[in-house]
Amino acid sequence: MINNLPRSRGSVRSHGRNLLVFGVVGAFVAAGLVALAGTASAATTLGASAAERGRYFGTAVAANRLNESDYVNTLNAEFNSVTPENEMKWDALEPSQGSFNFGNADRITSHAQSRGMRIRGHTLVWHSQLPGWVSGLGTTQLRSAMNNHITTVMRHWQGRIHSWDVVNEAFQDGGSGARRSSPFQDRLGNGFIEEAFRTARAADPTAKLCYNDYNTDGANAKSNAVFAMVQDFRNRGVPIDCVGFQSHFNAQSPVPSDYRQNLQRFANLGVDVQITELDIEGSGTSQANNYRTVVDACLAVSRCTGITVWGVTDKYSWRSGGTPLLFDGNYNKKAAYNSVLTALGGTPGGGGGGGGGGGGCTVSYTETQRWGDRFNGQVTVRAGSSAINGWTTTVTVTPPQQVSATWNGSPSWDTSGNVMTMRPNGNGNLAAGASTTFGFTVMANGTWSAPTLGSCTAS
Ligand code: XIL
Repeated sequence: MINNLPRSRGSVRSHGRNLLVFGVVGAFVAAGLVALAGTASAATTLGASAAERGRYFGTAVAANRLNESDYVNTLNAEFNSVTPENEMKWDALEPSQGSFNFGNADRITSHAQSRGMRIRGHTLVWHSQLPGWVSGLGTTQLRSAMNNHITTVMRHWQGRIHSWDVVNEAFQDGGSGARRSSPFQDRLGNGFIEEAFRTARAADPTAKLCYNDYNTDGANAKSNAVFAMVQDFRNRGVPIDCVGFQSHFNAQSPVPSDYRQNLQRFANLGVDVQITELDIEGSGTSQANNYRTVVDACLAVSRCTGITVWGVTDKYSWRSGGTPLLFDGNYNKKAAYNSVLTALGGTPGGGGGGGGGGGGCTVSYTETQRWGDRFNGQVTVRAGSSAINGWTTTVTVTPPQQVSATWNGSPSWDTSGNVMTMRPNGNGNLAAGASTTFGFTVMANGTWSAPTLGSCTAS
């Protein structure tokens, strides 16, 4: 059956036949709520299981991957926080003095907001990915350029960023504990960090303000120097709320044995700690075990508020040769994924065996046909390791796109008209591992991005 939608959407309630449809939908909604309540202790995604432990689980996101449907579907299904990987860096936002370019970062923040994900801001003051004009400035000009950059950028997203990396990587590696040379350090001296944090607090008082660095994951000369700075800030009332530990690990730079203790000593200063750019090179069981160590450490420190991995899939990692992430290049879950999910208290494999009747389900999208003005999409809904009696998922289109028809499903719409919630058309029974499909036509109206799918909820 084909439902022709755009014109009839507003009047659907007035047709007796459709009232029956609404009755069925209501029953499914009620069943879904019961199933959710019944399986609350067996979350099946990283974000949901972290949320049950009072934390977020995020990923770095690249704006130019947001039209790849597997990328977006994995992002939407698994993560509840995002960090723009490059789009909020100084060279991206203010490539020439006073001329700001927010477009790519806005694509990420609107995507995140429309799905209820949190956003980490990364990063305001950093020696790298810094446009040449900044290094050419004298002391007075540099001071006002830094403060103007912080203020303009933070005000643009005021109230929408849960934590900002105000200053990134200001300390040297090695045994000196000294500050790293940068235009900011060299012209403004040690006080630049304090000034950046004070400016940031004034620009957006709702954001948590973090100092972020790498090779600070265990106790060493560099982390001791950062520790002394944070302690001094806390003693003198300089605004700082959190410390970010990048946590880029490999054989040369393994997870330190005192990782948890190090997080705890910073937390004891009265700041939150966050794992901000986690990736661990390797494969198989050893990689999985290292990930588990990191997650366990965060869970053991009550002020460790969340974990962000530095990318969705190995194929787009900044260190792709080291396959350091949780999903492989085909978006398959790796052993490391299962280890993280289990450490967070979740249930791998789509939630089978959790009792309460929820066997879990997954969804995937393909475009099946395209014309000059529209395309057809098809979603496959597959049951997990147990049989299910019903399912729900969402399909979100990008305005000005509009869904003009659907088949093999029973749709309902949010007020924006962009988010279609799809449920079975009649009987929603699927045996373990079995699948069904529904389809729809999208009028492109000039925009050809693929729709994004929400996660699948089984009942
Ligand atoms: C990296 C990005 O992942 C790359 O795409 C980019 O080419 C270089 O920067 N520390 C940080 C991150 O704070 O911003 C860096 O991200 C990785 C190291």
